[in-house]
Amino acid sequence: MEEKKKDGRYSRIYEQLTKLVVKSENQQARMATITALLHHKMNYFFWTGYYLIVDGEMVVNSYQGPVACQILKKGKGVCWNAFNNGKTVVVEDVNTFPNHIACDSRSNSEIVVPLKNREGKIIGVLDVDSSQRNSFSETDAYWL
Ligand code: SME
Repeated sequence: MEEKKKDGRYSRIYEQLTKLVVKSENQQARMATITALLHHKMNYFFWTGYYLIVDGEMVVNSYQGPVACQILKKGKGVCWNAFNNGKTVVVEDVNTFPNHIACDSRSNSEIVVPLKNREGKIIGVLDVDSSQRNSFSETDAYWL
């Protein structure tokens, strides 16, 4: 998607989400709302969801898209990398990312954003996959 169009779409989603998430204090309800809205408004999102740290493991949470790995092998893949370094990771081509965990062979590019709680502690990640290569840019990193 063209960057300007992406930016406009994210901006509208953000506005919509700020009104929707305040309807509940429940973390699960909020994450489910966020994944549903993002997944259905961004047409290049093939898989959209959260992985949270539970007892030291990276465990899948709210998501939209094909069935994904429930637990990600410690220290491997893009999600653990983003979590361990506390930085957003954009992968142009997942086939070239060392130790990438392929939950679905149709995914070709990916973005993973660390998820912080109110105290600023990183508690997991937001992960989005695309079936096309090179789908994610600085615009996605900024808004997600
Ligand atoms: N590719 C991720 C695993 C999760 S799936 O993309 C849904 C990784 O390498 O951590």
